[in-house]
Parts: sequence; C-alpha cells; structure tokens
Amino acid sequence: MNLFIVLICFSVGIPIFVLSTDAESGVRKCCDSGEVFESINGSYTCIEDKTRRLQMKSDETGFLHRNETGECVEIIEEFFVFNVSRGIVQPLGQVIEQIFPKCCPLNHVYNTEIHSCQEATSLNHSYISQDFLQIGLPNCKVIVDYELNENSIHKRNNKISINSYCIDKSHTDSYVLRECKDSVEICEEIRCFKKCCPDGQSFINGPNCYDTYKYGLNLSRWQNFIENYTGNRNFVY
Ligand SMILES: *[C@@H]1O[C@H](CO)[C@@H](O)[C@H](O)[C@H]1NC(C)=O
Ligand SMILES: *[C@@H]1O[C@H](CO)[C@@H](O)[C@H](O)[C@H]1NC(C)=O
Ligand SMILES: *[C@@H]1O[C@H](CO)[C@@H](O)[C@H](O)[C@H]1NC(C)=O
Ligand SMILES: *[C@@H]1O[C@H](CO)[C@@H](O)[C@H](O)[C@H]1NC(C)=O
Ligand SMILES: *[C@@H]1O[C@H](CO)[C@@H](O)[C@H](O)[C@H]1NC(C)=O
Ligand SMILES: *[C@@H]1O[C@H](CO)[C@@H](O)[C@H](O)[C@H]1NC(C)=O
Repeated sequence: MNLFIVLICFSVGIPIFVLSTDAESGVRKCCDSGEVFESINGSYTCIEDKTRRLQMKSDETGFLHRNETGECVEIIEEFFVFNVSRGIVQPLGQVIEQIFPKCCPLNHVYNTEIHSCQEATSLNHSYISQDFLQIGLPNCKVIVDYELNENSIHKRNNKISINSYCIDKSHTDSYVLRECKDSVEICEEIRCFKKCCPDGQSFINGPNCYDTYKYGLNLSRWQNFIENYTGNRNFVY
C-alpha cells in the first residue's frame, strides 16, 4: 500500500503536491524523534518537543541531520512537509491526512485506574492505522472513560470530531475510549471529580499546568476520605 500525502501549498493558485513513499519507509521525519521544528527568522531548527500534543509514527527520523536532499515531514504547530537541500529548509505545505486521536504519547499506555499515561517499552502501535497523531483531550469539559473492544477501534464514525474522543491501549492490555462531554449532566449518573489542570497536565512549581501526562489521580490513596472510591468516575475540568 502506498502512502499518499496531499499537500496544499499556500501560494497563489494553491498547487497540490502528492508525496508518495512506500509503506516500508513510511513517513520521513525531518528531526529526530522527540523533536519538532522551531522557526527563528525564517530558518528552521530542531528543538525538544515539550508538549507532545502532535506526534508522528515514522520509521525514518533525523533526515535533516544527515545533510541529504529531499522531502521530509515535521511538526510546527501543524504537520508540514519541507524541502531540504544543502541544509536549507523550505516549507512546501501542510499535510492533509487523517489524524488519529491517541490519549497518551507514543510509547505510553493509558492507566485506567489512575487516569494517566504510563511509559511502556516495546509497544506494538500497529492498532493505529494513521501516521499522524493528536495526543490527549486538553479541551474537554468532562471526560468519560469506556473500555473498548479492539474491533471497534476503526469503526469510529469519521464525522465525529477527533477533538471529542481519543483511543489508547490500557495498562491491562485492553483498549480504552475516552470521550468528551459538553455538559456535566453525566455527573448525575456517575461520580465526577473536578480536576484543576486540563487532561494530560499537572501542576509544576505552584499552580502552573504543564503537559506531563504521567501524574494521575489515585483515589485509593484517599479511600479513608472518599466514599466508594472504586467504580466509575469521570473528570470535570
Ligand atoms: C532575528 O532577526 C532580528 C532582526 O534581523 C535580530 O535582531 C535577531 O537577533 C534575530 N534572532 C535570531 C535568534 O537570530
Ligand atoms: C552538506 O552537503 C553538501 C553537498 O551536498 C556539502 O557542500 C556541505 O558541506 C555538507 N554540509 C555538512 C554540514 O556536512
Ligand atoms: C527543493 O529545493 C531545491 C534547492 O533549492 C530545488 O532545486 C527544488 O526544486 C526544490 N523542490 C521542491 C519540490 O520545491
Ligand atoms: C504487531 O501486531 C500486529 C497485529 O496484531 C502483528 O501483525 C505484528 O507482527 C506485530 N508486530 C510486532 C513487531 O510484534
Ligand atoms: C494507588 O494507591 C494505592 C494505595 O496507596 C497503591 O497500593 C496502588 O499501587 C496505587 N496505584 C497506582 C496505579 O499507582
Ligand atoms: C456507596 O455505595 C453504596 C452501596 O453501593 C451506596 O448505597 C451509596 O449511595 C454510595 N455512596 C456514594 C457517595 O456514591
């Protein structure tokens, strides 16, 4: 199967580029994994990806560092294709591809007990059919977690906004669907907890929320204070 990335260049006439690579090489990433582009005065450099809100599944990384000529994809607010030649990087256009909403960063699973991400080694990401990922649900009012059957991962209706749900593997090797709700109505049926930071974030150095992903809320620590600390619960932001 060939991968086709349709690019729209934001110049007069809006030409559409089609970049095709074979499945073996997949997407070619400009920077190393864990890095994204930063643009300073029109030149692009690879910097550490502190937020991991967008990620790519790619087998070939660090193209820019190899001083070769060709096209590669990198994140700079969005997914962009760049032309690299003799160290000169030029943006060609935005990647128009389906994006998979993953709850946790790559190489992490979702811990359904404490509602957070945990690192896991040698994960098989083949259940993710897309190469371009959006991580977490930072803009939800209420998030409800459901256990998901593996077969239903690809059956999600495309019309559902990817900002309204995410999917991930759970720490017990099953799958989880986390869904955004617009209202707190659901909290009349299942108990909700009010969380200070958005999903995936926690306080660092006082009340400042940062994308950390890994700190959850372990209710069993508070079992002497919270009635029925197990069972269904949601998070209200
Ligand atoms: C960017 O360009 C401005 C004006 O030319 C200059 O003052 C500034 O130092 C440059 N910044 C970097 C990081 O090179
Ligand atoms: C990159 O390759 C070009 C020739 O393709 C060469 O002139 C240049 O010195 C190389 N730069 C580095 C940093 O290796
Ligand atoms: C990429 O850059 C090189 C050197 O500037 C240029 O010759 C080539 O046409 C560019 N390719 C695209 C697709 O713009
Ligand atoms: C990952 O899982 C898929 C489907 O379950 C399987 O075909 C593939 O061989 C696995 N890859 C690795 C590296 O284990
Ligand atoms: C939650 O806290 C309990 C009690 O402190 C502990 O036994 C358990 O391992 C914790 N669970 C997780 C997932 O950290
Ligand atoms: C705790 O569970 C008991 C028994 O299931 C139920 O009667 C009670 O209402 C629950 N309390 C809360 C705060 O949900």
